[in-house]
This record gives sequence, C-alpha cells and structure tokens, in this order.
Amino acid sequence: MGRIPLEDNFNDVIAKAQRGLGIDDAELARRADAHPADIAALKAGHFNETVARRVAGHLRLNRDALVRLAQKKWYPQVPVFPTGFSVFNTPMEDITVNSYIIWDDRTRHAAVFDTGATSEPMLEFIREYRLNVRYIFITHTHEDHIADLPRLAAETKGEIWSSEREPVALPGAKTFAENAFFHVGPLAIKTLSTWGHSPGGTTYYVTGLSWPLAVVGDSMFSCSIGGSATAFADAYENNMKKIMTLPNDTVLACGHGPLTTVSQERRNNPFFVR
Ligand SMILES: [Fe+2]
Repeated sequence: MGRIPLEDNFNDVIAKAQRGLGIDDAELARRADAHPADIAALKAGHFNETVARRVAGHLRLNRDALVRLAQKKWYPQVPVFPTGFSVFNTPMEDITVNSYIIWDDRTRHAAVFDTGATSEPMLEFIREYRLNVRYIFITHTHEDHIADLPRLAAETKGEIWSSEREPVALPGAKTFAENAFFHVGPLAIKTLSTWGHSPGGTTYYVTGLSWPLAVVGDSMFSCSIGGSATAFADAYENNMKKIMTLPNDTVLACGHGPLTTVSQERRNNPFFVR
C-alpha cells in the first residue's frame, strides 16, 4: 500500500478549531490582531507563518506543531506488526476510508473494525488467510464507515457490535456500554467511549498484539481531530482523557489518514501537544 496522506492540512485544522470553539473569521482576526485578508488567505491554504503563529494560541493549537504540519515536515513513523493486524484503505468519492482486521494466528479467529467503502480487499484477505471473523466492530455509524456492512456481515457471519449511544440502529447489531470486553483468542478488546464527532463514537483498545492498538475511528487523526460543530469540547476531552493517556507506544488506527502512535501525536498533533 502507498503512503496514506495526512487527513487534514493546516487550514483544515484551523477551520476545525474555529468551528469547534465557535470563533468565526472576523472574531479570529480581531482576537489575533490580524488583518481579515490575511486570515482569509490562510484559510484558503496560503501558508503565512507569522499569521499562523498568531492565530494558533487563540484556537488552542500548538504553534510549532501547526507550522510543522503546514510545512509538511513531519509524517508519522509506525511500528510494524509482524502478524495479527492489517490495514485496508479504500476510496469513496474524493476521500479514502480505513478499515482494520486483527486476528490470532493459532485459532485463526479474527475481528474487523468498520467496513471501508468496500470490504472486497478485506474479504479477499480473510479468504486467503482462512480467518474466522467472530466480530464486526463499528467505530461510529457515519456512512463511510459502514458502507459495505450487509455484504461483510453476510460473507463472514461475524456478530455486529456498536455503541448503545450511537443514534443509528444497525440491522442485526448488538450494542455495548463503555468498558465492555471482548476476546479473540488471546487478544482482549476494550471499548472506550470517545463521543463527540459522533454521539456513540467508540475507541477499541486491543492488547495482546506486538504493540498496544487503539482503533479510534474518527475521534482523532494523525495531526488532527474528528470534526464536531456541537460537541467539540466533549470530543477534545474524551480524546485527551481516554486516548492520549494510553501507553506511549500504543498504535492509533484512525478512520482516515495514516497509522500513528500516542507518543508521536503528543509531540506533533496541533490539538494535543501540551
Ligand atoms: Fe469518516
């Protein structure tokens, strides 16, 4: 698989912070003592370091991390899983969406996370490795993450699970509360409620693989956060309390963009460098 680009550019990060905090362009210009035309240019993607550094603090974004993102100086390095974990990145209109599989080599039991735009590459993988999918876990019910659920469920016979807080009831799905545990062979999967981007947004924390793994859906991305106009404060707090506190070497498997780790996001994500 080629390199998956970062989900958001510096101007997307600025726009998400503005939406979340309810600060429009005029207000941002006023607070940062910047010219409205300079803000407009920045928002259109024309990077100006002086202006970016000025607005960052008013949007609770880390200045240096925002500048590194804009200058494309950084891309996450990802620990390799020799076995037991695989990524699928499938295109949907002008975006790509990620889905993931974990499995136990001895029993061949597996669990998948989201469906991708199409589950075809995942189904091929499942057939090739002769895996027995016990669970289909949904991070949240936005269309791009459940697009191929009927086919994935029919072909694997896996049990579908999603959060009891998610407003969309999926046909045939069971629901869990926070801190539910599932097991796939020796792998343990714990549900963390990271609502905000979606009311039942869930992070699945997996132990037993080469590295601790958190499948976070759209709760956050490498160098960014899932958008939310109405529950940004909750999204931020849940990410801070439940994802950024996981062990440093935890691999973050996001709904869009590349894999990353907790320690790298602590140092490079403009929202989470503190
Ligand atoms: Fe998404």
